[in-house]
Amino acid sequence: MTTIAEIVQLGSEVLRLKAVVVTDIESSEIKQLINTLQDTLASTQGVGIAAPQINESKQVIIIASRPSARYPNAPLMEPTVMINPTFEALSESIEKDWEGCLSIPAIRALVPRYKEIKISYTDVTGNKINTQLEGFVARVFQHEFDHLEGKVYLDRVESNQDIFAESEYYKLLNL
Ligand code: NI
Repeated sequence: MTTIAEIVQLGSEVLRLKAVVVTDIESSEIKQLINTLQDTLASTQGVGIAAPQINESKQVIIIASRPSARYPNAPLMEPTVMINPTFEALSESIEKDWEGCLSIPAIRALVPRYKEIKISYTDVTGNKINTQLEGFVARVFQHEFDHLEGKVYLDRVESNQDIFAESEYYKLLNL
């Protein structure tokens, strides 16, 4: 059964909470949460989603980079569910690039993020995974991780001049 949840919009309190660590990965409640997150993300052109965006303040994110009208240059990867994720920067190297968010429609902004990161998370079967990410996928991870900390990407923008209407962003891309 496909369950698509409503995506919580900016201003909602749940987007500002620190999400709770998941301890019962095998529970039906968490399995259902993951299914709903997957189905909800698949129904959008987003490249990632975090549980607080469907009103569940729990530490679960999905990274699902794929090229789309929203992100034409995104690399293609298998959607990956990450439970209780953490990360560290692998270098001080920071890059500014465009981001948007399903909870903040019609806006894009340039956001500084670490280029290379070392991450760990628990997968859906309970295995602890350690890996490294770089570039766009590292950016998506840091964006979704922020949702678990009660932050949104606009909090990280260096200047209000780096905030664009989506229609102007598409003009820049010549779409
Ligand atoms: Ni977001």
